[in-house]
Amino acid sequence: MKNVMIVNGPNLNLLGERDVLVYGEMTLLELNSFLIKKFSNLEIRTFQSNHEGQLIDWIQENRNWADGLVINPAGYTHTSIALRDTVEAIRIPSVEVHLSNIKNREPFRMNSFFSDVCVASFMGKKELSYVDGINFLLELESK
Ligand code: DQA
Repeated sequence: MKNVMIVNGPNLNLLGERDVLVYGEMTLLELNSFLIKKFSNLEIRTFQSNHEGQLIDWIQENRNWADGLVINPAGYTHTSIALRDTVEAIRIPSVEVHLSNIKNREPFRMNSFFSDVCVASFMGKKELSYVDGINFLLELESK
């Protein structure tokens, strides 16, 4: 596992000002820099969009480069079959991550369309959910 895509969905560009008790204090730039520094042995490409089609296009465009995908689909977690189908279609080991614990919040957040197309889901540990997700992909490969 060398090349990893980290994809963030809608409103995650507002990290740092969005409800910090739920999502943490890091901005998206800080989050991405933290991960790039922590996993300096990996090639990491990051992308964020508020638009479903842009997320789909970017993942498709980078699919032949990537060995693994870390995705926080944000609000699309609970609504987007189209983005879920992209994750399924690319046939790259993918992990779903969330800053908050979606199982412990409003009922409409309980369902994730991504759980069954991802090899694992990590949530509720803010930026450390992403760290756990990347480590899981790395361990997956060493098995
Ligand atoms: C989120 C959880 C989602 O329910 C929410 O819509 C988000 C962020 C998280 O990282 O905790 O935007 O994916």
